[in-house]
Amino acid sequence: MSFNPYIPMNKPHWLIPEKPYETYDEYLKQYGGRSPVLKAREMAPEAVLDEVLKSGLRGRGGAGFPTARKWATVKSHWCPTRYVVCNAAEGEPGTFKDRFLIRKNPYATLEGMLIACHVVGAKEMFIPAKASFKKELERLRRAKEELAAKGLLDGLKLTIVPGPEEYLFGEERALLQVIEGCPPMPREMHYPPFEKGLFSELESPNPALVSNAESHARVPAIIHHGADSFKALGSKDTPGLIIVTVSGDVRRPGVFEMESGRPLREIFEMAGGAKPGRTLKAMYSGVTSPVLPASKFDTPADFGSLAKAGSGLGSCGFIVLDDAASVPRVMQGMIRFLYVESCSQCLACKTGLRQASIALDDLCEGRPGTADPLDRALAGVIGAPQTNRCFLPQEAVNLLPGSVEAFRAEFDDPARTVNAPRYLVPKIKDYDEDKHEFVLDRRVLDKQPDWTYAEPAEAAAR
Ligand SMILES: Cc1cc2nc3c(=O)[nH]c(=O)nc-3n(C[C@H](O)[C@H](O)[C@H](O)COP(=O)(O)O)c2cc1C
Ligand code: SF4
Repeated sequence: MSFNPYIPMNKPHWLIPEKPYETYDEYLKQYGGRSPVLKAREMAPEAVLDEVLKSGLRGRGGAGFPTARKWATVKSHWCPTRYVVCNAAEGEPGTFKDRFLIRKNPYATLEGMLIACHVVGAKEMFIPAKASFKKELERLRRAKEELAAKGLLDGLKLTIVPGPEEYLFGEERALLQVIEGCPPMPREMHYPPFEKGLFSELESPNPALVSNAESHARVPAIIHHGADSFKALGSKDTPGLIIVTVSGDVRRPGVFEMESGRPLREIFEMAGGAKPGRTLKAMYSGVTSPVLPASKFDTPADFGSLAKAGSGLGSCGFIVLDDAASVPRVMQGMIRFLYVESCSQCLACKTGLRQASIALDDLCEGRPGTADPLDRALAGVIGAPQTNRCFLPQEAVNLLPGSVEAFRAEFDDPARTVNAPRYLVPKIKDYDEDKHEFVLDRRVLDKQPDWTYAEPAEAAAR
């Protein structure tokens, strides 16, 4: 199946151009040279909000929360100081969509933030992204200068914040901590950003609107073309377009933009399908959602359909496994990833995930234990989410019990455990678009729960 993953030039709402936009003027050509920010500023904030509401836009950061509802909450907050934040931390394994977007088209995200400022009445914006995202940070800085030169930032302040490598950096309350100069440790659950934002004081909670880079980027075209044209694309549940990352056991891994609602099977075909002689077995959406077995690959890629099928859309980072993959080894890698990346603030998370990770190591390395390692692993993850400040331990509950249920026999099979190689969780460092290859961060194997790195692991990982 041949497939062009890029914008057919000037097709409304598509964000990824065939060739990266090198200048702001080049980007603006799709709008006849006039920025949608100017159009939005001519409209009452309520009218802009109404358009975003009508579009049905759902956040692309993982949870699919309606974007306009978040805007409305911040807009109606009693505190006059508000902030707009773009989550560009992109730490979800198997996901490269935000970096791909920023490399090719940083302008849509920046314009989306400016429109959000107009609606919620914010004067200051932040874009936190990992310090290791050098290309993206550079691209954002250049784009910011261009927008400033056009006067679009007059009276506003935009700060790009290079941040740490940790998975938790992308968690929205940890993200705010990093902006404030602290480590990426989530704040208490009862302080959502839209209630307590940045640099808050008792009398001034300064709510922050935190949205994913793609969520912000979808807004300018909605304002220019109107909500109806956005809603006409994609599925009813998740209107518009999505940017998906397909990694793992496919022939042409990559990043693709498409209308939501396409069956997963078709999406995996775009990524070249199974390798020669192999068949696809299962899919994980990052490390956040339950496994989706291949028998359900006809499920449409949208939030509602995937939830109904027992999995989730997440941030559209589809990690595909074929019949040669070892689910126990995948679980060992993913649960270890969550354990190592958790932050020790909540005892239940740290002890539960630790127990699960050690038990899965015991199972996969054939170490004798006092009790059945699988029982210990399941008890560890199921008991983990108690008084948890963030969703991270819930991800472990999503992953393990469902994987054990769907692939129980593999957990008793030495060929899939002790005799299978370690699994490298696909934390994507870079993407070679021409070769359709992702560069993975192999240091994942050596990262320790105190966020230091051990000497490189000897075991070869899959
Ligand atoms: C452990 C963890 C890591 C996360 N990492 C990211 C991330 O890298 N990027 C992101 O946009 N959202 C991430 N999120 C989700 C954010 O907390 C938040 O829901 C999102 O930025 C909201 O944006 P949206 O409404 O546009 O989807 C993460 C959540 C958790 C629990
Ligand atoms: S639930 Fe886990 S990762 Fe989240 S704040 Fe608590 S200890 Fe840290």
